[in-house]
Amino acid sequence: MNDFRKAFQALHGSFVDRAGHAAHDANTYWAPIVVTKAEIDAEVERLASLPLPANGRRESLIVHPLSEENAPGFAPGIQVKLSVLKPGEKSAAFRHNATEVNFCIRGSGATLVAGKRIAFAQYDVWNHPSYAAYRHLNDGKDLQVRLTYSNVPLLQHMQVYLPEDEPSVDLHPVEEPEGGAADPRRKSPYGMIRIGADGGMLMPYEILINPEAVVSKPLHFPWKEVKRELDKLEALGKDYVGRRLYMMYNPVTGRTNGITPNFFATMTIRPPKIVDRPHRHVSAAINYYFQGTGYSTVAAFEAFVTGIVARVQANPALWAKTAIIVTTDEGGAVVSDIRQAGVFRQDSDDTSGSLSLRHRDRRIPLQRRVIVDAAIGGQHSTVAM
Ligand SMILES: [Fe+2]
Repeated sequence: MNDFRKAFQALHGSFVDRAGHAAHDANTYWAPIVVTKAEIDAEVERLASLPLPANGRRESLIVHPLSEENAPGFAPGIQVKLSVLKPGEKSAAFRHNATEVNFCIRGSGATLVAGKRIAFAQYDVWNHPSYAAYRHLNDGKDLQVRLTYSNVPLLQHMQVYLPEDEPSVDLHPVEEPEGGAADPRRKSPYGMIRIGADGGMLMPYEILINPEAVVSKPLHFPWKEVKRELDKLEALGKDYVGRRLYMMYNPVTGRTNGITPNFFATMTIRPPKIVDRPHRHVSAAINYYFQGTGYSTVAAFEAFVTGIVARVQANPALWAKTAIIVTTDEGGAVVSDIRQAGVFRQDSDDTSGSLSLRHRDRRIPLQRRVIVDAAIGGQHSTVAM
């Protein structure tokens, strides 16, 4: 048996009937969670109080309760790790096939990654390419605390995550035996072949197994420099109506605008009395706030609605014939949406005995349900619970 052969159980696949199956998504939408400064500080203190582990990694994952055991993420595809090093400590070398965004939230230090030394200070950001060996050290006087965001859960969901402690050597290309690549028998005589008039092609084997390598480098975004640029955006005052943020761009990601091929990372300032217009995207987002106060309406809105539903459900007689309608101003600031939200009681209004409500020219049937109809930034969504 060679090194690549694995012994597997004998298993059989099965057919799952989907005849006439209507299209619907089976996604679980994870509730937003706020991890407070007090909680982070307590965990930092706990990690700092441990004896130094053999690999030097005082680390915790910040995990969402809906994450699966084999992929403990804070979002379905994002792992968030909290790491602490005391002055003079360093972690052992490590590499994995995930990409990382590292963010120093306290103290300072250095990271040796892909043969490069990145000296970092508080609020600096830097990326790690996939499979780059790295170690961290704290050569400062204060406790060093880092957050690391990575796409580890994506790889774990696909059962292809490969972490490695103490990688002994860096990767290097496979060496061809003498005359190997030049052997004419290894090359299809037909090359690429056009198929059809729209650009489809057939690609021979020796080309498909040898794609052009795209080199992703560790890139360092020192907070001192990033802040200088953000301050200039702030100074524009009302002359600028865009968001005061910069994306930390890695040119290797091209039009997908990433800091790694998997992550988009921005640094934002929000001067007082500015409420961003709402927006949405299918990507999950993790926000870390390190100065000032404010609110984020994903969490606030969820909490608001959940609280109302719980209060009505607590009274079964009321719940039996109550509809809760949360209406919001279109396009307005979300904070005022919530303050203007109304909870209306609606009894049976037609001969069928069912509950219904006319709302924005739509008739919404209600049957002991709670309808949350929110128009956020002009995007309507009706949620029946
Ligand atoms: Fe966003």
